[in-house]
Amino acid sequence: MSEVTNTVRFVLDGRIVEVKGERRTTTVLDYLREDLRRTGTKEGCAEGDCGACVVMVGELNASQTGVDYVTVNSCLQLLPTLDGKSLKTVESLKVNGHMHPIQEAMRDCHGSQCGFCTPGIVMSLVNMTQTNRNPSRLDITDALSGNLCRCTGYKPIIEATHKACEHQTALHLDDQADVGLLKEIKREDQPTLSLEGELIVQPVVRTRKGNEFVSPSSVEEVAKYLIQHPNATLLAGSSEVGLQVNKEFRRPDHIVYLGHVKELKAVQTTPSFWRVGAVVSLEEVMHLVKTELPDFAEVLRRFGSPPIRYTATLAGNIANGSPIGDSMPCLMALGAQLILRLGSKTRRVGLEGFYTGLKKNVMQASEFIEAIEIPRPQDGQYFVAHKISKRFEQDISATCAAMTYQIENERLSQVRLAFNGLSPSPARAYAIEKVLEGKRIQDVDPTQIDQAIAQSYTARDGLRATWAYRSLVARNLVLKFINTHLSEVNAA
Ligand SMILES: Cc1cc2nc3c(=O)[nH]c(=O)nc-3n(C[C@H](O)[C@H](O)[C@H](O)COP(=O)(O)OP(=O)(O)OC[C@H]3O[C@@H](n4cnc5c(N)ncnc54)[C@H](O)[C@@H]3O)c2cc1C
Ligand code: FES
Ligand code: FES
Repeated sequence: MSEVTNTVRFVLDGRIVEVKGERRTTTVLDYLREDLRRTGTKEGCAEGDCGACVVMVGELNASQTGVDYVTVNSCLQLLPTLDGKSLKTVESLKVNGHMHPIQEAMRDCHGSQCGFCTPGIVMSLVNMTQTNRNPSRLDITDALSGNLCRCTGYKPIIEATHKACEHQTALHLDDQADVGLLKEIKREDQPTLSLEGELIVQPVVRTRKGNEFVSPSSVEEVAKYLIQHPNATLLAGSSEVGLQVNKEFRRPDHIVYLGHVKELKAVQTTPSFWRVGAVVSLEEVMHLVKTELPDFAEVLRRFGSPPIRYTATLAGNIANGSPIGDSMPCLMALGAQLILRLGSKTRRVGLEGFYTGLKKNVMQASEFIEAIEIPRPQDGQYFVAHKISKRFEQDISATCAAMTYQIENERLSQVRLAFNGLSPSPARAYAIEKVLEGKRIQDVDPTQIDQAIAQSYTARDGLRATWAYRSLVARNLVLKFINTHLSEVNAA
């Protein structure tokens, strides 16, 4: 890590804001409300669920001529992650005394009652209209899937969006002033941001203690820092770490933010696989796989909400290792490989061999996920996946299943099946694969699937579903996959 700077710099409404002396785990939401007194942005849940805290965060686009914005849950994002970026809050929308067309239409269509959710809803809609000015109903409900409104109901809000879209040109936020400022605060060829721990002055010695936040720009710097600080917390999209800060009051001593590491933001496409860097967002992965793996893209569309997907990563999902993590069944069925890095050495580990127990994995101290290699479907290979959850969107799975297979001489072959929600970590379902392998679909016996489930897993009721429900759903998902295939073949 080169030089140290203790100042976070970001752009807000045409000026550069410099922040010194804040705790490293202060959230963007707390800073907005308590320091800047921008109280338009609300705190509802402080866990990414309600959307009252949604703001827009932008970075210079690839040609450096404009700013690409996304929505984020400001309750989950740590303030230092804003360094080098542009922030827009609901207060930013007022231009020359006029509200944004989305705000005016919300008023005209009675899209707000108590108003608590309204700033977050407005920000989600304004963000959508920066890239989509003719949204369908589905585009609008997708954009709002992380915004809860308890009073109004969504009909007038959807009507307001259509009405606002009649004012095409006025929807665009003028980002030109921000472009120059973002170039000014860019840290390329400048010190890597490294916020030291707080200075503790004791009678004799002056030491630094705790809460160091570093934001390296290269993967080598990350690896080196982790060797020196094996217990450091890696920070990617912050959708898990932000919860630990808000709900468990964790204050990690060393936080390594990966969001500015160029190599980790890269996606490489070869004829046989996609190599997805560790901080590529789930939204980007969703678009990457949409054409070739539509079911995977649909699982990701139902992953959290747009503000979660714009920041959260595959690597964070995998490393966190929740038994109901959603990306893992898809990645396991496809045969994804993890590229793990320790110092200057890398090794490959198949995702199916990564977990060793509940939230336990094979990573050693100082090791981290550099990239995920996702095999692209080959000729004759089918991929299917489906997520079962209580709510359609913004909900984690009761169970999610994914399967790849081929049909050879009318028989299932090369079957790879994986579930979450059935065992302490997402896992391949080897026993069910055996039941399916080599069979004609019409000969598959559901009771054999039930037996394989009973033999492979320990019955356990969970908060989101009972074992009876999960095991039945797991069996039915397999039957749905193969029977849908059969009816499509018969219909062709
Ligand atoms: C409102 C909400 C909705 C959610 N919905 C879903 C859902 O539908 N499905 C689902 O599966 N999950 C869901 N989650 C959980 C969470 O969003 C995912 O697990 C997400 O993929 C985590 O990624 P992240 O980049 O935000 O991780 P972070 O919070 O940044 O990190 C998570 C963990 O991974 C570690 N880590 C991060 N990057 C690396 C790396 N490169 N190498 C090693 N370790 C690393 C971190 O140190 C930390 O321990 C939801 C969370 C919230 C708050
Ligand atoms: S306060 Fe509810 S999502 Fe942030
Ligand atoms: S207007 Fe009251 S919660 Fe939406």
